[in-house]
Amino acid sequence: MSAAPPSAPCTLVIFGGSGDLSKRKLVPALYQLHCEKQLAPETAIVGYARTGESDETYRAEMKAAVAEFARTKPVDEAEWAAFASRLFFFRGDLHVPKFFADLKERLSAVESERGLPGNRLYYLAIPPSGISAVVKNLGDAGFVYKVDGGPWSRVIVEKPFGRDLESARALNEELAHTFRERQILRIDHYLGKETTQNILVFRLGNGLFEPLWNRRYVDHVQITVGESIGVEGRGKFYEEAGIFRDIVQNHMLQLLCLVAMEPPVAFEPNAVRDEKVKVLRSIQPQTPEEILRDTVRGQYAPGAVDGIPVAGYRQEKDVHPMSLRETYAAWKVQVENWRWAGVPFYLRAGKRMPKRVTEIAIQFKTPPIAFFRRAGVALREPNTLILRIQPDEGIALRFGAKQPGPTMRIDPVKMDFQYSEFFGTSQPEAYERLLMDAIHGDSTLFARRDEVEAAWEHVTPVLETWRDNPPLDHPNYEAGTWGPEAAVALLARDGRRWRRP
Ligand code: BG6
Repeated sequence: MSAAPPSAPCTLVIFGGSGDLSKRKLVPALYQLHCEKQLAPETAIVGYARTGESDETYRAEMKAAVAEFARTKPVDEAEWAAFASRLFFFRGDLHVPKFFADLKERLSAVESERGLPGNRLYYLAIPPSGISAVVKNLGDAGFVYKVDGGPWSRVIVEKPFGRDLESARALNEELAHTFRERQILRIDHYLGKETTQNILVFRLGNGLFEPLWNRRYVDHVQITVGESIGVEGRGKFYEEAGIFRDIVQNHMLQLLCLVAMEPPVAFEPNAVRDEKVKVLRSIQPQTPEEILRDTVRGQYAPGAVDGIPVAGYRQEKDVHPMSLRETYAAWKVQVENWRWAGVPFYLRAGKRMPKRVTEIAIQFKTPPIAFFRRAGVALREPNTLILRIQPDEGIALRFGAKQPGPTMRIDPVKMDFQYSEFFGTSQPEAYERLLMDAIHGDSTLFARRDEVEAAWEHVTPVLETWRDNPPLDHPNYEAGTWGPEAAVALLARDGRRWRRP
């Protein structure tokens, strides 16, 4: 596939150039974009890391990563050779200004050799503790240009974006000292997924669904991000973060915004983000008592996934043996605006679930009259529209149909659209789309400052209430199950139940 014209030539500097994200996602995505001729021929990629030897060793390291993680395999030798000539390595510490002076010289040399105009994209694929230093060093060493129509400079900031409202605000302040808001791209890779982008297309590009998309017809919404993996060697990070910061604060609230937002005045960065911020501002704030009532925390105990025994969270590497950190969270959220008043949004995210699934289920109200009740039957299942974000990408609609035969019996049936059937199996990776948007300067799929802070405004009270009320029952769900009993009770209290994806 492909077709888009190549983007503006630029130099992409990846801080954390040898890290996990670079190897698993960024460099494979750039290789794919190269193969699809979406990168300008001059574009260069400089991996900045603390350890490493030379351009040659860096290229070899990245080749192994691309061979393992590229979307299309095997790696094409000729394409790789051309791609490798774009790759450069720079060894430096993030905190020491001297390295930034040297980096400047190195970038000038690479840029003059390749005929690059000086456009720069700085990718901060580093832990939060390094961000301030890099931003300051970039500013002090003159890496950031004015927004004046000359060469551009932009920065991509990876999550986690702060660990609470206060730290997110402080980080935004620091970034604002050095960059203008339109130069800052806060990445949430969920927004780059094709199926996430399709939420707005589905809602606003069709005439059929939007009229039903409100409290008159929708009973409630369930958003599920389930993963069968555990913390995968990221015990240290999880001990700090937990799933509420890792997945709910960003990915899940973004999905909620896309489902709940009003149509923007145009499909243009600020118009889209204005509407998302309005959703976040409409979420009803909760008191600590309400938080304890409307949230559930969980932590996985040893169990089995796909029949294979797996360790509990407390047995994972770098995890405290009595850790109280959550690996599962459920949250009942009320979006109190004209469209959604009274329609709960139930969010749940969990590690070590029975399978990997991200989906949004819109459950509609049942008919006003149980028309077929006298025949001894009623529609047992309400109509549900399921937006399957991954991995089995598609959209399904469940409704009732008469079972053929002499008696009146209604069974739930399903209409199902699968991406792979219509569009083939190889969808672009989220990072491919987001890197291209960053190069084109399109920030529609990146989070704006007020958006991130508005999300933290709701997430921080939950974290504080949880901190002040430590859980007494952890671990409280077996690996390979759909989470703690209390999560079932959260919906049962409202006369509802979680969908079984
Ligand atoms: C990341 C989280 O942001 O998203 C991980 O840090 C999680 O914990 C991952 O596994 C899930 O992403 P995806 O694209 O596989 O759903």
